[in-house]
Amino acid sequence: MIDRDEIARPATQERAVLDGLDVARLPRHVAVIMDGNGRWAKARKLPRVEGHRAGIVSVRATVETAARLGLQGLTLYAFSTENWKRPRFEVLTLMALLKEYLRREMQTLLANDIRFRVVGRMEGLDPSVVSALKDAISRTAGCRGMIFNVALNYSGRAELTDVARTLAAEVAAGTLRVEEIDEERISSRLYTAGLPDPDLLIRTSGEMRVSNFLLWQIAYSEIYVTPVLWPDFRCLHFLEALSAFQRRERRYGGIVEPEPDPEQAAPTSSDGSSRPAAVTR
Ligand code: FPP
Repeated sequence: MIDRDEIARPATQERAVLDGLDVARLPRHVAVIMDGNGRWAKARKLPRVEGHRAGIVSVRATVETAARLGLQGLTLYAFSTENWKRPRFEVLTLMALLKEYLRREMQTLLANDIRFRVVGRMEGLDPSVVSALKDAISRTAGCRGMIFNVALNYSGRAELTDVARTLAAEVAAGTLRVEEIDEERISSRLYTAGLPDPDLLIRTSGEMRVSNFLLWQIAYSEIYVTPVLWPDFRCLHFLEALSAFQRRERRYGGIVEPEPDPEQAAPTSSDGSSRPAAVTR
């Protein structure tokens, strides 16, 4: 049961969009490519890092809204493996902002029953960042509400490479047979294992790319691109994305959503749950 007043005050634009949502048909998992921080800063003649700093406010608003709506998962793309190419000062600032966010927001995460997790190669990060992340993961481990994934040092291709290595090692050790490798087994080895695949992928700032994000998991995601720059993204924009999602007709490759057919094996997502059978592309 969601508390509407907690999400949006009565008689506001946010509330009108919220009231138009069918809460029984919300996406289970939303993934977000947070983009446009640099452009936001440039438009204000500020250093790029000020865009990232302002983006933290948007992170807070999005996490709280998603948790209060009762979503199962939210995954935010904070730092890709390609982002190491950015100036050192920008990389250091991003890492510092992440640590600051975790320090300041811990009480809010706990109060909203949010379980914090990291997707990506954590071992490639600075030890002080790893320690802050591990601390947040363990302090929120008992939370049973939304799973909040931060994608850090993340690349979809690296994730699939890691899955391939894990499965190959199991085959080499004799604990797995090649014929046992199927979509479900691959999903179960992803960084997002246990969460349904994202139903909705949001990208801010208008770019039409998936940027190596959750490549396996977004196979059937609805994609919503908004021109809003990430530092301007708020509860209203998140609710608008959910509203657009609810107006889409999801077909999973079929013609219309087929009736469940007990004779036909449906493909599975990372949590092992089934989707309507894929018929054609
Ligand atoms: C893309 O904008 C944004 C990023 C690379 C970083 C996003 C990170 C944060 C908002 C802060 C840390 C996150 C958490 C979860 C606490 P860009 O710099 O590529 O923008 P541009 O395309 O306009 O240059």
